[in-house]
Amino acid sequence: MLKIIAIALSAIFLFTSPAWAAESSPSKLFELQCAGCHANGGNIVRRGKTLKLKALEKNGYTTIDAIANLITNGKGNMSAYKERLSETEIQSVAQYVLDRANQDWK
Ligand code: HEC
Repeated sequence: MLKIIAIALSAIFLFTSPAWAAESSPSKLFELQCAGCHANGGNIVRRGKTLKLKALEKNGYTTIDAIANLITNGKGNMSAYKERLSETEIQSVAQYVLDRANQDWK
């Protein structure tokens, strides 16, 4: 009996967790919220302000905090995200940007 319950529970978990993960994963967030202007770590609005490591270093966005701060408050033609994303989402998407920049967006 216990075994059956365990199998049923894990089936439910397997069935529901990918959908949940897709909704809140940082890469999905990035696709939805940022890729319109920053596809592949570029910047279609301001060419020098990409999300590549070199540009981030030059412009002082080398920490999660600095990036999260920018996303929260916006800058120039990039709007603020504090009304649209939670603090946790902002932190995770900032981490995502930094990780991808460290891998040169490959
Ligand atoms: C409407 C287009 C647009 C969207 C959408 C957008 N950005 Fe930006 N982003 C910009 C512009 C324009 C700048 C340059 C701002 C400035 O310094 O004048 C910028 C700058 C940045 C920078 C600093 C890059 C550098 O080298 O100085 C980061 C990091 C960044 N955006 C991350 C994000 C993230 C993460 C998202 C999604 C949550 C996002 N952006 C959504 C337009 C956008």
